[in-house]
Amino acid sequence: MRVLWFNCDCHSFPGVAIAVATLGIFWACLISIYDLATVHDAHTIHSMASGREPNLERFQKEGHSAFVVGYTGETGKALVTELNETKAFKRVVLIGRRQTNITEKLGEGFEEKVVDFDQLENYKDAFEGCDVGFNTLGTTRGKSGPEGFVKVDHDYVLKSAEIAKTSGCKHFIHTSSQGSDKNSSFLYPRTKGQVEESLKMMIFERLSIFRPGILLCDRQENRAGEAFFRTILKPIFYFFPTAISTPTEVVARAMLNNAISISSGNKTELFENKAIHMLAGSLKPKTSEMVKPDKKLPQDKTESEENLEL
Ligand SMILES: NC(=O)c1ccc[n+]([C@@H]2O[C@H](COP(=O)([O-])OP(=O)(O)OC[C@H]3O[C@@H](n4cnc5c(N)ncnc54)[C@H](OP(=O)(O)O)[C@@H]3O)[C@@H](O)[C@H]2O)c1
Repeated sequence: MRVLWFNCDCHSFPGVAIAVATLGIFWACLISIYDLATVHDAHTIHSMASGREPNLERFQKEGHSAFVVGYTGETGKALVTELNETKAFKRVVLIGRRQTNITEKLGEGFEEKVVDFDQLENYKDAFEGCDVGFNTLGTTRGKSGPEGFVKVDHDYVLKSAEIAKTSGCKHFIHTSSQGSDKNSSFLYPRTKGQVEESLKMMIFERLSIFRPGILLCDRQENRAGEAFFRTILKPIFYFFPTAISTPTEVVARAMLNNAISISSGNKTELFENKAIHMLAGSLKPKTSEMVKPDKKLPQDKTESEENLEL
């Protein structure tokens, strides 16, 4: 029991209690920041979510084609299910590094193409004719090491986007992460932030960046650290479901709702975790958030800020 106490000359303090309380306060502050945050342009997001049915009908008639890179991952699998159920696209090309024969379980219009991501320029035909591109590619530092992580999450993503653009992709829909920051001193958020910036520079007709929090799914792969973290955070996921976590099905539904909607007219649409829930239709906007978008840019915004931060 003594280890539970810090001792000094005159007093002893309940060490574990203080540590737990500090951690609790830290998490409470963090959750409040994310949970109470106002979703900017909730009006636009809400109309994308509530217009799902008519948008889908119109979109199907227009006859679009899409590719998905990262379709064997957790978010990718949820997205493929969504694409299969909605039949939003007349053709969907699933681009990955290995054959899975997933198309046997899917409806018409799905094709699987195996590529070598290190020589992606030799597989340009896989991207040909797809006006919409979904990216859910990614690895972890624990699995691939720092260099491997940058290779997949940065190099492969940007190469895919570059080839997609030259092959006619007009709308690129990218999975990034909550907390992405190109200036961060940590590898993960910095890499994610740098990729976002590079994608913006490519000037797609429409670029949608999704920044989900912790992804909730029944992950097949064993990630011990992540599983431990998820267990500790379970009460937070339960009581604040839109603050720092998103089920992969919600991300997939939000991506689809975004893909089939008419562009908001902004070069870049940026969806933070809470906005993803709203875009999927699982979170209703507050009355105070339902103010029509103000086209005037705030004073501190510069060029790339013609973005829509949602
Ligand atoms: N995990 C989270 O809580 C979390 C939170 C926020 C954002 N994100 C981001 O969201 C995105 C999707 O995450 P996820 O958890 O759904 O991903 P995931 O389940 O780990 O799947 C990753 C996908 O990338 C592919 N991939 C990995 N390494 C590759 C390589 N060396 N070469 C070619 N393909 C490779 C995988 O293909 P194989 O099946 O062939 O391996 C798979 O299709 C990622 O960018 C991730 O950083 C994740």
